[in-house]
Amino acid sequence: MIRIEQLHKYYGKQHVLKGIDLTVDKGEVVAILGPSGSGKSTLLRSINFLEQPTSGNIEINGIRVSAGSAGKADIHALRTATGMVFQQYHLFKNLRVLQNVMVGLTSVKKMDAGKARAISEVLLEKVGLKDRMNHFPSQLSGGQQQRVGIARALALNPEVLLFDEPTSSLDPELVDEVLSVIKTVAREGNTMLIVTHELGFAREVADRVVFMENGAIVEEGTAEQMFTRPAAERTRQFLGKAIKNEQVL
Ligand SMILES: Nc1ncnc2c1ncn2[C@@H]1O[C@H](COP(=O)(O)OP(=O)(O)O)[C@@H](O)[C@H]1O
Ligand SMILES: [Mg+2]
Repeated sequence: MIRIEQLHKYYGKQHVLKGIDLTVDKGEVVAILGPSGSGKSTLLRSINFLEQPTSGNIEINGIRVSAGSAGKADIHALRTATGMVFQQYHLFKNLRVLQNVMVGLTSVKKMDAGKARAISEVLLEKVGLKDRMNHFPSQLSGGQQQRVGIARALALNPEVLLFDEPTSSLDPELVDEVLSVIKTVAREGNTMLIVTHELGFAREVADRVVFMENGAIVEEGTAEQMFTRPAAERTRQFLGKAIKNEQVL
């Protein structure tokens, strides 16, 4: 479970997060939608202090950290509790696929190689890449690399998974294979926060949809509610296309 309270972030004088309050229950999948520059990535990165929030509190499964007084141990605890999948996959280019998934287990969790390998193979099977485990990242398509990124995030068995536009850098024909893996992970009861521009996917996978603009949450609701009868005019404009398609159907 994630609880974000009154989270503010300034970059210099620019107020990028303006008091975000958001709770994600255990097993819940929440999609964050919003125009570019609205603070979605900053919000996600503040949850595990990849960005230092200016003020506010973050709580993940009972670990509660205040921006003002976060120590190294607190930040480490938050990072251990979160797995992150980025727009760019950030795989180690000099390591094979299997090693890319194993490395967190052997280096962070100090697990012995045999056990780490067994867990990693199961995860590669889940994302459909067991047959590629001895390839190097450069020998894979973008969609395959992103699926390795997902297996790697799952390997550490985090309390929550954070996805920041996981398909935005992919060629259109590779988007579906990645979305399909994320859907599988969502159905397994993982707690997930997903920033995406894929509205159809958001509608299908998310229990709840949050619409953000200008560093604030404009509106949130069930996927059904947000896509068929959003309360705010701004949400309606942003989701307009998806809503229009809905009316046609
Ligand atoms: N490292 C940074 N330094 C300064 N400004 C930043 C930095 N990262 C993001 N910003 C600014 O913060 C705002 C929100 O950015 P971001 O969180 O990336 O939005 P989104 O993910 O919704 O597109 C933007 O105006 C962006 O230019
Ligand atoms: Mg972003």
